[in-house]
Amino acid sequence: MATASAPGKVYLFGEHAVVYGEPAVPCAIERRARAEVTERDDDHVRIDTADLGLEGFVAEYGPESAPTVEAPDSLLEAGLAYIDAAVREARDAADAPDAGLNVSVESDIPLGAGLGSSAAVVVATVAAAAHELGLDLDSRDVAERAYRAERDVQEGEASRADTFASATGGAVRVEGDDCRSLEAPELPFVVGYDGGSGNTGELVAGVRRLREEYGFAADTVSAIGDLVRDGEHALAEGDVEELGRLMDFNHGLLEALGVSARSLDAMVWAARQAGAHGAKLTGAGGGGCIVALDPTEQTETALDLTAECEQVFRAELATDGVRLE
Ligand code: PMV
Repeated sequence: MATASAPGKVYLFGEHAVVYGEPAVPCAIERRARAEVTERDDDHVRIDTADLGLEGFVAEYGPESAPTVEAPDSLLEAGLAYIDAAVREARDAADAPDAGLNVSVESDIPLGAGLGSSAAVVVATVAAAAHELGLDLDSRDVAERAYRAERDVQEGEASRADTFASATGGAVRVEGDDCRSLEAPELPFVVGYDGGSGNTGELVAGVRRLREEYGFAADTVSAIGDLVRDGEHALAEGDVEELGRLMDFNHGLLEALGVSARSLDAMVWAARQAGAHGAKLTGAGGGGCIVALDPTEQTETALDLTAECEQVFRAELATDGVRLE
């Protein structure tokens, strides 16, 4: 049996603009998904997500009945498609295309809420399945395989941001195919979760339409790119207050692109009024999570009292990416 875990992430800066080749800075956080993989005697794959929360399921299939990986339209289909794609990548890496595997996954990352839950599950599954098949992949190989798995499921529309941050840990910079780790100071992240999620595909399509229709929307996307470049300097200098100011600015630009939501704005404003250095939505938006920077407990207290906030937690920067347990 092999077990691996991998962290979720918040976007410090740059979601949506990253789709158009601008840089983004996701940061891995200490909330993890775990995959436990055991080799079987036959060529079947059995996937158990009962501990994942929401719609857990158990699915078993042989080579003839393997699920086709196409745009999934329910959380259940999506979970199956992502884990199946991760298993394929691990079998391919280990040169064992017919290996039978039992895979069971669990996670303490809210699902579909901008914290990279699917990437963490895929990264942990690739690493655990490859290890069970006798192959230890380094974190860059895991990131590459996990990216390919996500890209297959999302029909070619995936950035490397989530999978790279989850596989390597820490703060990272992603610009197209170029991914690298960044030095980062202590980042006092507080996450507020509205209990919901946004539809990433629809939100990305909405920005695409807006960008085609209005020149100022295209300018907004490139302004996010400029802001990310400023953010990199603030990160290198360890200037947490400046990072907060830029996060506020980034949220405003995302709002202009139509991807925020009333619940996200309410949490962002609660954090700002509580004295956070800054706050913004994280991920695709439309619902899900915000991230604030606040070394004191005031933002947590304020979010606890905010009707739109269902859950609040402090999230340390995860310096470890994927690891065998
Ligand atoms: O909500 P998440 O964590 O899946 O992030 C989506 C980020 C986008 O930039 C909107 C899309 C992408 O693939 O980069």
